Parts: sequence; C-alpha cells; structure tokens
Amino acid sequence: MQHNPTPVDLVLAPRPSGSTLTQWLYSEIRRAIVEGRLRRGTALPPSRVLAEHYTISRRIVVNVFEQLQDEGYLEARVGSGTRISRHIPEDFLASVELARTSLAARSPVFTRRPARPFYPVQPLVSEFPIDVWSRLEARSLRRLSTLDLASADPAGEVELRTAIADYLSGSRGFTCSPDHVVITTGTNNSLDLLARLLIRPRDRFFMEDPGYKDAAEIFERAGAKVIPLAVDEFGVQLPTDASSRPRAVYVTPAHQFPLGVALRLDRRIELLRWTRAADAFVLEDDYDSEFRFSGKPIPAIKGLAGAQNVFLLGTFNKALYPTLRVGYVVAPEQWVDPLLRLRRLLERYPAVLPQRTLAMFLAEGHYVRYLRRVRRLYSERLEILRESIAERLRGAISIPEIEAGLSIPGFLAPSIPAAQLVASAEQYKLDLWPLTKCELSRSDLNGLLLGFAPFSEKELRAGVVALARAIDAIGKSPRRRAV
Ligand SMILES: Cc1ncc(COP(=O)(O)O)c(C=O)c1O
Repeated sequence: MQHNPTPVDLVLAPRPSGSTLTQWLYSEIRRAIVEGRLRRGTALPPSRVLAEHYTISRRIVVNVFEQLQDEGYLEARVGSGTRISRHIPEDFLASVELARTSLAARSPVFTRRPARPFYPVQPLVSEFPIDVWSRLEARSLRRLSTLDLASADPAGEVELRTAIADYLSGSRGFTCSPDHVVITTGTNNSLDLLARLLIRPRDRFFMEDPGYKDAAEIFERAGAKVIPLAVDEFGVQLPTDASSRPRAVYVTPAHQFPLGVALRLDRRIELLRWTRAADAFVLEDDYDSEFRFSGKPIPAIKGLAGAQNVFLLGTFNKALYPTLRVGYVVAPEQWVDPLLRLRRLLERYPAVLPQRTLAMFLAEGHYVRYLRRVRRLYSERLEILRESIAERLRGAISIPEIEAGLSIPGFLAPSIPAAQLVASAEQYKLDLWPLTKCELSRSDLNGLLLGFAPFSEKELRAGVVALARAIDAIGKSPRRRAV
C-alpha cells in the first residue's frame, strides 16, 4: 500500500522575513519535491490538513497546489487527491544535459583537454603575454567610437591590414597594399571563402598528399574534385601530364603539412608556370612560416615574379593562440571585390576589437619580439625531442631534419605498425597522430606526427619513455636498448 505523507513528513523550513506565506509555502514544497524528500507519485496531505497544521488560510494552500500543478510538479486526480508528478520539469532539463554530454562523448570535435605528448597541432600558449594583450585590448575598447560599434569594413580594420602588409614586406619577402588584405577568422575560414568564390561543380582541385585534409573536405563540399599530388623531400611533385588542368592548387610551401619540408625553388617556379598556363589559382597556405628557427628564411611564392594568380593565406591562430581566430587572405587585385561581396553576405565583417588589439600588438613590435622568443623555445624543444628519441628509440623511429614548425614526422620501423601504437596511446597517456590521418590516396606512410611545441622538457622526456614502453608492448621493436 502506498504511504501517504502526513503534514509532519513535510518538514518546511521557517518562513524567512520578507517572504509572503504563498511564496514560502510554494518554494518549500517545490524544494522538497526537487530534492526527492517528497517522492514521485506519493499523495500530499489534503489542503485542509496542511492549512490547519501550519495555521494558514486554506485558500493559500489551494493556490500553491494549483500553481505547482500548472508547472508540472503536482497532479490532481479526482478521488485520489493531489500527488507528486511522476515526471517533474527538472527531469527534462536533466535529459537535455545528458544529451549534451553524450554528444560530447560521441564526437571528439566537441571535447577538449590539456594537450598530451605528442599532440601535433597545438602551439605553445602558456608564454603568451596576456598582460600586454589585455592592456592593448582595454585601450582599443576605450577608443571604440559609436560608429565602430554600429558597423565595420568587410575587409577588416585598416590598421590591421596595414600592419599585416608591413609584416609581410619585412618577413615574407613581398610588398602588398593593405587593400589586397582581407581579414578572416583563420585559414579554414579563408579556404571556405575561396572555395565558394572560385569553385564551380567538378572543378579540379589539386593538393598535396599527405596534406591538410580539412582543405580537401572544404573544397569537396564546394563541389570540387580533389586530386592528390605526392610529396617528396623537395615538396609537392607536379604532374608531368600537360592535360592535368587544375582550377586551383593548394600548397603549404614554407613547411609542408605534415612532412615539414620546404618547397624547392624550381618547383615553385614550375607551379606558377603550370597554373598560369591553365588559368588556375595557387592557394599558398603560409602555414608555420613564422616558426622557422634555423636555415635561411624562405620567402613566399606570392613574392615571386608572375605570382598574380596566387592567394596567400596566413593565420595568427598558431603564432599567438588558437582561440584568437584571426587570419587573412592576400588576394589578387581583381578578386578583392568579389571576395568582399561574398564576405559581406556570409559574415558581414570580422569582430572589430581583436583586430584593433592585434593591430597595436603588431605595430608596437610585440609580435616580432614574441615570435623571436617562441622560435627559440621551439628550437630547444625540438632538440630535446631529437635527443631523447636518439637515446631511447634508435632504430624504432627516425626523424628527418626540419627547420621549422610545431611538429615533426616520426617514421616507424616496418615492424611497428603506427595503427597499433595509436590504439594503445590512451593507456600510456599519450596522444598519437598517425601520418595516415593526412593521407588522401596513398597508404605507404607508417609513422606519427610528433608535436613538441607546447611540451616542457620534462613532458617531452616522459613522453618518449612512455612511447618506448608502448613500442615494447607491441613486442616487435628492433631496439637494442632496454628501457
Ligand atoms: C596546414 C594548416 N593550415 C592552417 C591551419 C590553421 O588553421 P586556422 O587558422 O583555421 O586555425 C592548420 C591547423 O592545424 C593547418 O594544419
């Protein structure tokens, strides 16, 4: 038989001063229901009994019952009095929360956690000079006029475009007008705008293999047919077949993603010749050009003679911090207006405040100083990784000479399948990316993309020890040294 609570079961806290009898009774009963002290489906004492017990008017009790009933906490049934509902509003809120959690669990796109060795695409963020940035941001905010709050230039803030043009002429070897610079939220946003702008159904989009798969997906979504071009130690290999007519060719010439090589000069020239003859475009992702820590600086293709068909794509999301979301396109003269019309339609204009702050950060020399510091740290970290691998994993992993970037490919001995290693990564608290993640049509790469930028010396060394254990567990390591 069901237990009906008496008024004594309903332990109501004393009425706080300033609260009416109705408010008090309502919130006390609701709280007892939500906290589970009044169980689902149980009957409440009759309103008359409750009113007498607390010496309040029965009308008040009836009103409170009615309100809780309207809100779904109580159910009144003829002949069985008023009961606690079997499903209260909080249940539905909880299920929304639950749905969110399970979505996060399903899709890694929505999860985040601190980077573990050797997560390859995260820069060092802990050294970012947040004090300088917050001072500049406060100044930018104070200077915003009412006009600035109401609308902005779809190309981006002129101060920032000017500072970028100055940076490019100083560091990337070519001069451009601020009028050719269009601010975006980063490289992927730039790629999306260009795919929408340039691609007609079934256009041929050539790109590096292995390469940046996001670019392939963005262009495929725009209707292009993606055609892979193999990469060797001198960068992308261009087709010898004269009938290969591209609409656009995407390359990462400063630091090929993911292999890290720089595109050799003769191939750069050949790329321009091939694409110009086909009336096609080059999308030059200037990826990681900021992080060249040794060797000669390599100027952008955009700076070569005859590069009128080149769009240069830059980003600050790697050099500063990924959630900044500021990047840019340097577009050929005749494409600036069509690009701006598209931008206006899709996104109006980029957020003004981060642009103004970044413009000051560049113009006052903080950017160049910060890059200098980070470059030194990256170069030290790469050296530590190289040394630890040589010490602990000789014969198991080989890494090439690279002169730039946040990550380095680690080629595995054939007896150590990358897929098997990656499957055990969680167990060793590692985050391992197989090179296959970047393969389009080839399937010959047995290796990992090893990130070093955000990890301290201790983390790198411990990461290599864990990696050696994971390799040992596979039981096929040709290493001679025991770890
Ligand atoms: C090849 C390449 N280009 C560009 C980016 C940066 O893109 P975004 O500016 O959209 O963060 C990445 C990020 O990992 C990348 O791997």
